[in-house]
Amino acid sequence: MNPRLSVIGTGYLGATHAACMAELGFEVIGLDISPAKVELLTKGTVPFYEPGLDEVLARNIANGRLRFTTDFAEAASHADVHFICVGTPQAAGAQKADMSQVFGSVEQLAPHLSADALVVGKSTVPVGTADEIARRLAITNPSVEVAWNPEFLREGFAVNDTLHPDRLVVGVRSDRAEQRLREVYAPIINEGVPFLVMDFPTAELVKVAANSFLATKISFINAMAEVCEAAGADVTRLAEAIGYDPRIGNRFLAAGLGFGGGCLPKDIRAFMARAGELGADEALLFLREVDQINLRRRAHTVDLARKMLDGSFIDKRITVLGASFKPDSDDVRDSPSLDVAVAMSNAGADVVVHDPKGLENAARVYPHMVYNQDVMSALQDADLVVLGTEWREYRELDPVAAAAQVRVARIIDGRNTLDPQMWRAAGWTYRALGRPHA
Ligand code: UDX
Repeated sequence: MNPRLSVIGTGYLGATHAACMAELGFEVIGLDISPAKVELLTKGTVPFYEPGLDEVLARNIANGRLRFTTDFAEAASHADVHFICVGTPQAAGAQKADMSQVFGSVEQLAPHLSADALVVGKSTVPVGTADEIARRLAITNPSVEVAWNPEFLREGFAVNDTLHPDRLVVGVRSDRAEQRLREVYAPIINEGVPFLVMDFPTAELVKVAANSFLATKISFINAMAEVCEAAGADVTRLAEAIGYDPRIGNRFLAAGLGFGGGCLPKDIRAFMARAGELGADEALLFLREVDQINLRRRAHTVDLARKMLDGSFIDKRITVLGASFKPDSDDVRDSPSLDVAVAMSNAGADVVVHDPKGLENAARVYPHMVYNQDVMSALQDADLVVLGTEWREYRELDPVAAAAQVRVARIIDGRNTLDPQMWRAAGWTYRALGRPHA
């Protein structure tokens, strides 16, 4: 018989995992402490924007395989395998992760767990967390087992990444835990997806190592962008040329405003903090530089904007295209584009922000900013346009129609995503990052 599953925490990770596991045929209960979220999900509404997730959610609620609750006892009585998918945000005033949701959810679940339950962590955590959870559960629930199963999904591709991952990684301490996870992931393993079994600390580290590598790759190309700016070179041609070497590869080499979101920035900081606690801080000193290069791109863009506006933001109207940290997401956490918008507004500019999906979230974080849902009216009377997130809607903007809206046709392409010749031909002064002569 199929194991029955619970998913604790229904954010981007948990809601997607719950819906996708139901899609694979399992009986799943999702738990969240927010009654509002549970009410929305129960109605089949995804509380955030993630392409394709609403259909999977609605289908599996309708067929009865998926339901939601706020009650830990109900989750524990339904399931034998419990996935912990709660958030591990950056702790207030610190570099390390705030682990209260992970330990809190396990603590609330523990009194209700059946004797043979398996608790599977999916959240991104400091190495050593799985061991700590196992140690605590051993006192209250001696026969309950723990496993660690990091998640690599990308926002915007979450459903596909969950149903068809590159690899499955599990940290276990027993054959039994491994076998149960093999049962849970059988439909995916049967498609030929590699199933990698390892110990707790290695499984935990795989996730932060992967995210650190990706962040480093982006900051590498953005460091090259800085040099290209100084040398009069073109970073997009440089990236294309080095990317043909299969050892380097051409993915994650898009220079621009750099990385943001709820994962890469906080994960590299938490990783450095944890390495420091373990006495291995020197090993990760380079990540400090990765972080700095990344943040410098935002400051550089603000400087470039000021320069293009003849040295002052006062009484200048700027349209920022993009509030979410990347396209196909409404997530504005640590969004480079929104950060730049706020910095220019604080420096005295009249900033209007447009985004196809992220404005509600942006307004929640920065209620004082001005938002406009319609791109053409957002462009009206602008002295400068800054493209900060490469939504398809912006890539497909007609430069002639856009030029007719603005006061002065000047644009910074913060994602190197527009065709400079087309925009120049339509009368725009076009500037990009890492391509001074593009
Ligand atoms: C990331 C990891 O990719 C994923 O495996 C992990 O599970 C969670 O963190 P995500 O945060 O959804 O996923 O976004 P991702 O697609 O990785 O992009 C991160 C940021 O890097 C975005 O702000 C994006 O705009 C930026 N980026 C990406 C670049 O600036 N250049 C690139 O070449 C690629």
